[in-house]
Amino acid sequence: MDTNISTKIKVEKIAKSRINEVDFESLVFGSTFTDHMFECDFINGEWQTPIIRPYQPLLMAPSAKVFHYGQAVFEGMKAYKDDQGKVWLFRPDQNQKRINISAKRLAIPEFPEEYFMDGLHQLLKLDHEWIKPGDGNSLYIRPFVMATESGVVASRSNEYKFMIICSPVKPYYKGEVRVEIAQKFSRAADGGVGYAKAAGNYGAQFYPTKLAIEKGYQQVIWTDASTHQYLEEAGTMNVFFRVNDTLLTAPISDRILDGVTRKSLIQIAKDQGIAVEERRVLVSEIVEAAKNGTLKEIFGAGTAAVISPILGFAYDEIQYELPKVENSYAQKLKKLVTDIQYNRSEDPYDWRVEVKL
Ligand code: COI
Repeated sequence: MDTNISTKIKVEKIAKSRINEVDFESLVFGSTFTDHMFECDFINGEWQTPIIRPYQPLLMAPSAKVFHYGQAVFEGMKAYKDDQGKVWLFRPDQNQKRINISAKRLAIPEFPEEYFMDGLHQLLKLDHEWIKPGDGNSLYIRPFVMATESGVVASRSNEYKFMIICSPVKPYYKGEVRVEIAQKFSRAADGGVGYAKAAGNYGAQFYPTKLAIEKGYQQVIWTDASTHQYLEEAGTMNVFFRVNDTLLTAPISDRILDGVTRKSLIQIAKDQGIAVEERRVLVSEIVEAAKNGTLKEIFGAGTAAVISPILGFAYDEIQYELPKVENSYAQKLKKLVTDIQYNRSEDPYDWRVEVKL
């Protein structure tokens, strides 16, 4: 991929980096941010000249539409540093395309590809010291767009702000993950916004997740809104079930996020000779498989967590524990995908993109 794009981006550098104030060994996911941020406004029907400037609070009208109607979408991506100090992105073209797919659903104007890519590369070039080498260390990158026009009329905004902020991170989940299968609440419905990374899509999960946490689970596995019979996603991730030696995962639809990690794992698994079925997965077949011992693994897949093994689930108030497996697919696939991401292996798919420092 051509990374030598020359968008005109104004750059205001920080006077003094905050990097020495950060303890990189005890980072809390997504709570420390790098020195700079990328910003571009949509005004009078067009995207203005982007700017990279010191990370700082924004000044916005309390009536900005994003606060009232949640007209906002985001992306999640990561940059990795290899042992030679080179910086890599993983399939950034997929995030660039997806933010515009999400934007379209929320009636937000598309953000130009060259602004996205050039802004991202320039920002990472400035803040690359914040990316630490070593497995599990990465820079979580959060591109997002929000409606900034002032006014509480419930209609799409005429003004927007596109931003990229970056956060040095360690792995997303630390402890063991057990989940509850949703029987009442839903994450997404046909014709809705489930496939989009719309801000409200995530905000709406907080209450059912809070209830699950109170019962001792870390996440909810979402089922289809109309029948609650089919398994769809796990928390903020796509979800895979290993029954015997076959991986099952819900097919992409307007309720399911077309996850970059999801599709990368499917490709890698197939190339490893692992059978993968993208099809509707019944709750009853997974409960049955748990009972008869053919359910070997469940794992969530997403950018933040990469692969998050799920050790047990609850359904109808009954708790099911998964057995320990010898040849874990979750472990194997995680190693294969992170080896590509950290430049520890060949990249037969051409997924890795170097950030020229
Ligand atoms: C991801 O893993 O891709 C996410 O979007 C997680 C994020 C909501 C923290």
